[in-house]
Amino acid sequence: MKKQHIGFDLYIYEGIEELPSSERRLLERAISARKNAYAPYSNFQVGAAVLMENGEVVIGNNQENASYPSGLCAERVAVFQAGALYPGVAILAIAISAASKNYILDLPAGPCGNCRQSIMEYEIKQRSPISLLLQGQEGPVFKCTSIKDILPLAFGNSFLGDS
Ligand code: THU
Repeated sequence: MKKQHIGFDLYIYEGIEELPSSERRLLERAISARKNAYAPYSNFQVGAAVLMENGEVVIGNNQENASYPSGLCAERVAVFQAGALYPGVAILAIAISAASKNYILDLPAGPCGNCRQSIMEYEIKQRSPISLLLQGQEGPVFKCTSIKDILPLAFGNSFLGDS
């Protein structure tokens, strides 16, 4: 038996002001996208801004539905739209802003498992890392430099063989 530790570097900024200006601008896009989220059932609003290698920014926000499972998270709205608009263009970074209408969220909310898997699909496809910036309504900004950091032992197309 062997034991192996799997860890990653999480960069913690005290607030949005501490970010380099390009990352601050991306997070600001996520914050403004969050404000247009359609989340009447959870009152939990999320915005995502995807920075593409061609310099374009594609935004998304969560879209809920009276039939709850039909809704979609902000991150997937954004990355699927990025894939639709710019096929073959790599994603450099995704900023994610989350807030509740019921309380002050002062810590970043990590993307859900389905969103991590969806982002992983693009990171594998493009063969270059996608960095993530996360913030709640206020408080610290967390940055990690690859989706692999927060989805270890991930499933990907290599398991499907070459059919
Ligand atoms: N949500 C996101 O948009 N992204 C996540 O990664 C976690 C959850 C949304 C889905 C739903 O509309 C609301 O937040 C509450 O779960």
